[in-house]
Amino acid sequence: MSIDYRAEIKRLKEKLPVTVVGHYYQRDEVFEMADITGDSLELARKCKADNNPWVVFCGVGFMGQSVKVIAPEKRVLMPKIACCAMARMIDGSYFDDSVNYMVERGIPKENILPITYINSDATVKAKVGEMGGMVCTSSNAYKIIEKGLESGKKILFVPDRCLGQNFANSMGLKSCVIGEGECDPKEADVICFNGFCSVHQLFTLDDIAFYREKYPDIKIAVHPECDPKIVEAADFAGSTSQLIKYVNDLEPEEKVAVGTEYNLVNRMRQGNTYVLSSSKPECPTMNETTLEDLYLTLKSIEDEKPINEIVVDEHTVKYANLALERMLAIN
Ligand code: 13P
Ligand code: SF4
Repeated sequence: MSIDYRAEIKRLKEKLPVTVVGHYYQRDEVFEMADITGDSLELARKCKADNNPWVVFCGVGFMGQSVKVIAPEKRVLMPKIACCAMARMIDGSYFDDSVNYMVERGIPKENILPITYINSDATVKAKVGEMGGMVCTSSNAYKIIEKGLESGKKILFVPDRCLGQNFANSMGLKSCVIGEGECDPKEADVICFNGFCSVHQLFTLDDIAFYREKYPDIKIAVHPECDPKIVEAADFAGSTSQLIKYVNDLEPEEKVAVGTEYNLVNRMRQGNTYVLSSSKPECPTMNETTLEDLYLTLKSIEDEKPINEIVVDEHTVKYANLALERMLAIN
């Protein structure tokens, strides 16, 4: 006999002291089961404020880890511990190499303030926390970089070169990317690590030209993980929640092409909303989580044999927490 996953998930959610969390990029059928949804910043905040001892997080690894770091007393399970490809582009030793790159070019370590995008492993966040730095998300990067600059130090921004450059541009700051041309830390305010999101690299100037030619009044809205030239050519750039608000605030007859992950754009608004790419911008890891995975994870709590639990060691929790809490305090 086949299992009715939806009905079973609802039963388990009613029975257990558990909160199901879902990022906007999750498959529709999984997303619909979530008690808490939002962009990365909202998910971190809402999970911290939530009272249930169990969290089942449908998203990618760094998101579940961040909940464990800011609320270590919670038991955090992930139906799939799927890793964000960008977060995988940096680890502790690559972070150290980036610091050394700046030191070798005349910036003493004490004059470097690291900021890590939340899309990074907890070990990288811990290194950032130990150096007095902060985490940021796509919805608060402006504020966090602004705050970081008050220290008078050079900003080392990891791992997303696009986010780092986009916010530096919007603040009128000079930026460079380690490994791309001449990146002299003495000449730049924000020194970026060379990481990126392959999904958001799909959007091109040709895509924007195509839509603008077809519908001259169309709005173009993109995520700041897109390349700086795409953000510059767009009408709006923002986090997933900010993109949803932007689209919802448009008049029903206004057309918009959105440059972010497919599941979210597809769910946004029927009719006048277009995916800003000729290929399907699907995040492979976000799409790994199925309704069956969610059911099996909840069932494992009921059976008292929890699976896929997020474990972060004490040292990492301590320092990654510092970096995350510094961010939350600024918001
Ligand atoms: P948001 O914080 O905007 O939800 O972005 C998360 C992410 O991974 C985008 O690719
Ligand atoms: Fe990571 Fe890109 Fe997927 Fe976001 S869309 S989770 S940045 S790989």
